[in-house]
Amino acid sequence: MKKEFFIILLYILCFAFLTEGCSTIDRGKDPKEAFVSSLLKKMTLEEKIGQMTLFTSGWDVTGPVLNENYKQDILAGNCGNIFNAHTVSYNLALQKMAVEETRLGIPLLFGYDVIHGYKTIFPIPLAEACSWDLDLINKSAALAAKEAAAGGVNWTFAPMVDLTRDPRWGRVSEGAGEDSYLGSLIAAARVKGFQGDSLSDPFSLAACVKHFAAYGAPEGGRDYATVDVSERTLSDYYLKPYQSAVEAGVATLMTSFNEINGVPASGNSYILKDILRNEWGFKGMVVTDYTSINEMVLHGYSTNLKEAGEQAVAAGVDMDMQGSVFLNHLKESVDEGKIALSQIDEAVRRVLNLKYDLGLFDNPYRYLDENREKEVGLSAEMTDHALEAAHKSIVLLKNDVWKDSKLLPIDQKTRKIAIIGPLGDNQIDLLGSWHAAGDVTKVVSLLESLKKSLPNVQISYSEACTTSGNDGSKFPAAIKLAWESDLVIMAIGENYQQNGEAASRSDLNLPGVQQELLEKVVATGKPVVVVLMAGRPLTITWMAEHIPAILNTWHLGTCTGEAIADVLLGRENPSGKLVMSFPRNTGQIPVYYNMKNTGRPFDPDNKYTSKYLDVPNTPLFPFGYGLSYTEFNYTNLRLSTNEIGMKDSLRVSVELSNTGSVAGEEVVQLYIQDLVGSVTRPSKELKGFKKLLLQAGESKVVSFSLTSDQLRFYGANMKFAAEPGEFKVYVGTNSVDNIAAGFTLK
Ligand code: NOJ
Repeated sequence: MKKEFFIILLYILCFAFLTEGCSTIDRGKDPKEAFVSSLLKKMTLEEKIGQMTLFTSGWDVTGPVLNENYKQDILAGNCGNIFNAHTVSYNLALQKMAVEETRLGIPLLFGYDVIHGYKTIFPIPLAEACSWDLDLINKSAALAAKEAAAGGVNWTFAPMVDLTRDPRWGRVSEGAGEDSYLGSLIAAARVKGFQGDSLSDPFSLAACVKHFAAYGAPEGGRDYATVDVSERTLSDYYLKPYQSAVEAGVATLMTSFNEINGVPASGNSYILKDILRNEWGFKGMVVTDYTSINEMVLHGYSTNLKEAGEQAVAAGVDMDMQGSVFLNHLKESVDEGKIALSQIDEAVRRVLNLKYDLGLFDNPYRYLDENREKEVGLSAEMTDHALEAAHKSIVLLKNDVWKDSKLLPIDQKTRKIAIIGPLGDNQIDLLGSWHAAGDVTKVVSLLESLKKSLPNVQISYSEACTTSGNDGSKFPAAIKLAWESDLVIMAIGENYQQNGEAASRSDLNLPGVQQELLEKVVATGKPVVVVLMAGRPLTITWMAEHIPAILNTWHLGTCTGEAIADVLLGRENPSGKLVMSFPRNTGQIPVYYNMKNTGRPFDPDNKYTSKYLDVPNTPLFPFGYGLSYTEFNYTNLRLSTNEIGMKDSLRVSVELSNTGSVAGEEVVQLYIQDLVGSVTRPSKELKGFKKLLLQAGESKVVSFSLTSDQLRFYGANMKFAAEPGEFKVYVGTNSVDNIAAGFTLK
């Protein structure tokens, strides 16, 4: 009897212990944690590794296709995530496979590079950043998410927030330019746009900020090359936009291909753990870039793939994109005790958390509705916005008087227009790099748009040459056309593959024989407008000297043609401002607005000062630059006080007047300069901007508030703080043309 009593007591104690144990593992009452914990408990190690694996779809003429092995991997639970997969019918078939034919039925994540649109393509991110319009940028991301989510996608590999100071790097087209303050605001706007109020909203996508970190600073601008930036430059500039994306709640983050301080990003625990997780508190999921764990071997950081996988997990990577390193080696590493099971569980938990947040466990088919796909794709809501975004991204670089008037907007009396150049009647290149499932048939070319807008004008077209190669055999016909016209519009620049990933260029002149073409057309003496379509700043010094009107339109997406026609004809007044400086030549790179003063700033009267013998130090067109069809005048710069304490704020105000004859939008820019610091400070730093519309003749007072928080930087002790001293404030129309005042921070 006594013995039985003790056995029963033992049972009771064991039961109590076990249930207590479970509730500890389930972490209380949070339903997500409870759900994910209980699922984790059911998973084999192989299934866990499957959730840490991401494979791509291949491509066929009809759309994405999956290779047979990957299908087997999905069925076996070895692959829990697919990218480049889109369209409802395709993703539905895969999701069914995962949900209905695998042991645990865990739904797949479907990732895709929805960088600037899905089917409806908005301007490339660099172009859109030139709008300096955060609401517009936010809306583009929200609409891209809506359209992609309707196409079966639930995760986008965007925004790309790599700071870019070197236009030789082809991927500058994907980012927001050279300034970390503006880049941080845009990063947050894009994250919030993609993700909406909640990931569980089936019209939103999980965003993925990339490429962590400093991928935008490859040596010589060569893609995938070594990055070597100081900790200070990293902290003060390069890291800021990623941090902003994290603060905006980005769900996932992608590592970069490059090394940071000698350690490849996918194995770099300093950036992935110390900074990302510990300092910034990032709770989301970390995915590598394409095979970047494998590449740690070639970097000379890992002896073999197995070790690379171990280093990646130890650094905090949760998911392996395409490299199969986790799939092929992690089990062995766990069996050998090189990786603790708890580390695997932590990574898998993050993946499952994301699937839970996306609502996939509630309904794995929530993104997979064919009717919705038809309704949303390329709807008027999408194309209306694509047109507006395109209008706002165009930057007018030059509009000088030709003979007795400006060439733009085009004079209504013009009778014969020649459009010359490879991009004049083009569709595909206007979509830009990374144009996802962009429907090229919906792009209306510049030629077509102008013809539609000007039915009574004779508009002729000559392609003249391509954007690459050296064939000038069609030049004579093009020149003849120029002779026969009242006005020539040159549609020249880059094709969509001349920028973007793996598209670095050492020479940023017009590619192919376009420069030769331009010079020949100019030699006719006819008035010439250049419409420059490119994915990066080009070196256009000759053009800037010889062409009276230059419209830098980048690659504007689906509505490129209409948008350019509207601006050429004055139906829209251009308001874009550059977010990357235009160098005068490639030897001058890097050239960016917030460079340091140096101990020998350029002095024309002193040979031994910092300069080139053959080119000025200044860019051809500076950061923040962009003209309008009207004129703006800045007067009455006022500071509310000349001295502030660490806890005070200062009001900066300026009077802006539209002194021209048409309404226009202006981006009023506020810069500061910290004159002396415990470490040297840049010659100027953007600290605020306001975009506003002024009618002709209208004036408005524009004001900003400045607090010591905005004056912080990483000082000599690497603490992020403001330092007392003298400051200058600059307000104006770009980073160079501005008016100044000064104040003291006590
Ligand atoms: C490689 C690129 O670097 C990255 O930006 C992209 O998201 C992935 N490939 C997936 O396409």
